[in-house]
Parts: sequence; structure tokens; C-alpha cells
Amino acid sequence: MTPDSQPANRKATGVSPKAGVILQSQGLKKVYGSGEKSVPVLRDANLSLRQGEMVAIVAPSGAGKSTLLHLLAALDTPTSGTVYFDSKAIETNDDAALAEFRNRAVGFLWQRQQLLPDFTAAENVAMPLLLRGENFASALGMARKWLAEVGLQDRADHRAGELSGGEQQRVAIARALVTGPRVLLADEPTGDLDEENAWAVFELLERLHRAHKLTSLIATHNLALAARCDRILGLEHGVLHTRGAAAIAGGVPGGEAS
Ligand SMILES: Nc1ncnc2c1ncn2[C@@H]1O[C@H](COP(=O)(O)OP(=O)(O)O)[C@@H](O)[C@H]1O
Ligand SMILES: [Mg+2]
Repeated sequence: MTPDSQPANRKATGVSPKAGVILQSQGLKKVYGSGEKSVPVLRDANLSLRQGEMVAIVAPSGAGKSTLLHLLAALDTPTSGTVYFDSKAIETNDDAALAEFRNRAVGFLWQRQQLLPDFTAAENVAMPLLLRGENFASALGMARKWLAEVGLQDRADHRAGELSGGEQQRVAIARALVTGPRVLLADEPTGDLDEENAWAVFELLERLHRAHKLTSLIATHNLALAARCDRILGLEHGVLHTRGAAAIAGGVPGGEAS
């Protein structure tokens, strides 16, 4: 697959040849393990996310969706290839820059919420702010504001473990966005929810995406949800490709890409 743009061009001009690209991967390769037990997952994954896009990745279990999202969020390092944020390569060998990138540039939403069950919803949402050194009162204030945005202001002081699955995922959304990231990476965010809650969570993501001018990349198995995104990507044999919305929605009425 041809990369959308060459890093060499960027270096020469100092300007991305493709205006508005915020997150890009070039030649991403990921092999887990080594020798006979090695598992090749990504072979040559090339992606350009333009500012403001909402893009779905639809691929079967085991295709490498989580692996790709982790690499894009700098939660793991590629075997080879590069991730660019705002046209700058992410320096995977600079711990301080990496921590800064993870905490500020990208919000990550997991399939299972990974909330701390004994802490309140507000404390869970405040956690990324506390990790970056904000004081407790202002972090909690910001957390309450975000809980209101996801419709959970009256649950702020409830322990996370007492909330329903849909509520917990909304807390997780607030936690992913409380730091003000420009990009949201969501790994099957509705995968554990029933249909009604899945739609509610997806509609919330759409609303927040627009209101906060996010760029969002969402891995999902739900074809009807994917069809509401601007674009749909497939991931096959370690390579990303564009998938037609109508084709993957299987003729579902209204199953258009945009
Ligand atoms: N840490 C790991 N060590 C070894 N193999 C892994 C690891 N993480 C994922 N894999 C393997 O990589 C492949 C892709 O996994 P994953 O990215 O989780 O796929 P998906 O999210 O599309 O289901 C799977 O075969 C999985 O077993
Ligand atoms: Mg996965």
C-alpha cells in the first residue's frame, strides 16, 4: 500500500503535504514474540486521520485492531514503522515526551472500562488530571463538569463499581476526554453493551466528537454503528484498506458512510 505522504517531504518543507492530517502511521509493522513463536500482526499499516474525521475500523477478532490502536496511542512500540502526530514522529525513546503525548494528545477508550471500582465516578474521571499534577480540587471540578457532559452529574459521587455497564462506559468516556485530547481512539467501546446502550454510547461519542472538534478512530464489530462514521477501514493480513459502507453494511437501509 502506498503511504499517503513521505516523511522526507515533510522534513524538506516542514509542512505536511496533506493538509489537516493529525495522526498518521507509516509502514507500521508489529510482530509479537520472536523465533518460531512469533506472531506477525501488522505488516504495513498506513493510515492518515484528518482533523475532524470520525473513522471506523471493522475487522474480525484477532485481525490486529487493538494492536494498531495501542501503537497509535504510543501504549506499545512498533517492530518498525512510525506514528506521526501533527506531522512529528512520536519519539518512542523519550519517556517524558511519551508520557506527555499519552496524557494530552490522545484519549483512549477501552472495551472494558478499567475503572477503579472502589473510587467514585468523579475520582475515576479526575485520575488523568491528578497524574499530570493538577491539584485535587480543580481535577475534581473538571471531572464533575465532564460527568455532566456525559449525563451523569447525579452519579458523580457513586462508586464506579455500583454503576451499570452503560454508565461505566460513559464515565470512561469522560475520563478519556477530561485531559482535552485532540484525538480519541476507541477500542470496541460498545462491545460489552446491549444494543440500546451501544447506540446510546455511540450517539454520545458522535455528539462529543462534534462538540469538541475531535478526530476519532473507533474499532467496532457493529456494522450499523460503523456505517455512521465518515469512513470505514478494514484490516486484513496486517494491512489497512478502505471498505465500502454499503458493502459492509450488507444492504442495511441507511447504511451509508456519511
Ligand atoms: N502481547 C501479545 N503477545 C502475543 N500475541 C499477541 C499479543 N497481543 C495480541 N496478540 C495476538 O495478535 C493478534 C491480534 O490481536 P489484537 O490486536 O488484539 O486483535 P483484535 O483487536 O483485532 O481482536 C492476535 O492473534 C493476538 O492473539
Ligand atoms: Mg481488540
